[in-house]
Amino acid sequence: MDYVAGVDSGSTTTKLVILDNSRIIGYHVIPTGANCVRASQNILEIGLKKLGLDREDIKYIVATGYGRQKIDFARSQITEISCHAKGVYWIFPHVKIIIDIGGQDFKVIKLGGKGQVIDFAMNDKCAAGTGRYLELMSRIFEMELEQFGHAAAFAQNKIDITSYCTVFAETEVINHISRGTPENDIIAGIFHAVAKRLYSMAKHYIGSEKEIAFTGGVSKYAGMVKALEDITGCSVLVPSEPQITGALGAALFALEKLRGNN
Ligand SMILES: Nc1ncnc2c1ncn2[C@@H]1O[C@H](COP(=O)(O)OP(=O)(O)OP(=O)(O)O)[C@@H](O)[C@H]1O
Ligand SMILES: [Mg+2]
Repeated sequence: MDYVAGVDSGSTTTKLVILDNSRIIGYHVIPTGANCVRASQNILEIGLKKLGLDREDIKYIVATGYGRQKIDFARSQITEISCHAKGVYWIFPHVKIIIDIGGQDFKVIKLGGKGQVIDFAMNDKCAAGTGRYLELMSRIFEMELEQFGHAAAFAQNKIDITSYCTVFAETEVINHISRGTPENDIIAGIFHAVAKRLYSMAKHYIGSEKEIAFTGGVSKYAGMVKALEDITGCSVLVPSEPQITGALGAALFALEKLRGNN
């Protein structure tokens, strides 16, 4: 059997996808923690064990993500942009716009008709609007991530969050809470503000497209999906496992490399 794997070493989570030819036979998501090398070794062990495979059974491994250069058991390292494009094209071949929001950065990728990357933009300089920012906000409300993601659906009048900076936005949110503004209205405002910022970076790429593929852990917040739909006017499609598209793309590259196509 020709098994291959892709590892996406992200700032917040490490993901693994194992393929048997082009069929996904295993995938995992674990926290990256302080040591991305250890996390990638752990996830590979977990994945192999689950399938009853040995290390030698995996014929080619490609690493991607923030920590990809440190993953020395991988035979190649490929950028996140290329891997996300490949993974999303495999899932939604007709979609031309990808928005990925992870723990630390957000990316917008525009694809051509064959899934090739035409253009992209990335914001990795600041935590505002990323998964970590939303985690921090959920902690202010003492909510689990899922509960936080759903709370916006119950908003009556979403409020405006005017500060972009994480620290100032946090103060603004706390002021609203102390004034007695309903929590759901504040939370809807937070998602709306993130979607608005994102749209200001993405609209030039979106152009007249009507669909967006939304990936990364932040696409698991229901309120974020809704806010993105409201602001862009597009249908926002979220894969059933939105965190693994980069690792899937890496595994698909591994398959091509093994077959000598790349
Ligand atoms: N169940 C969940 N519901 C809502 N959000 C979630 C959930 N699980 C994770 N997240 C969000 O996803 C974020 C992590 O996303 P992801 O795993 O895509 O990051 P990453 O790939 O490690 O980061 P990056 O691509 O920026 O290096 C967390 O910061 C959190 O906000
Ligand atoms: Mg990522």
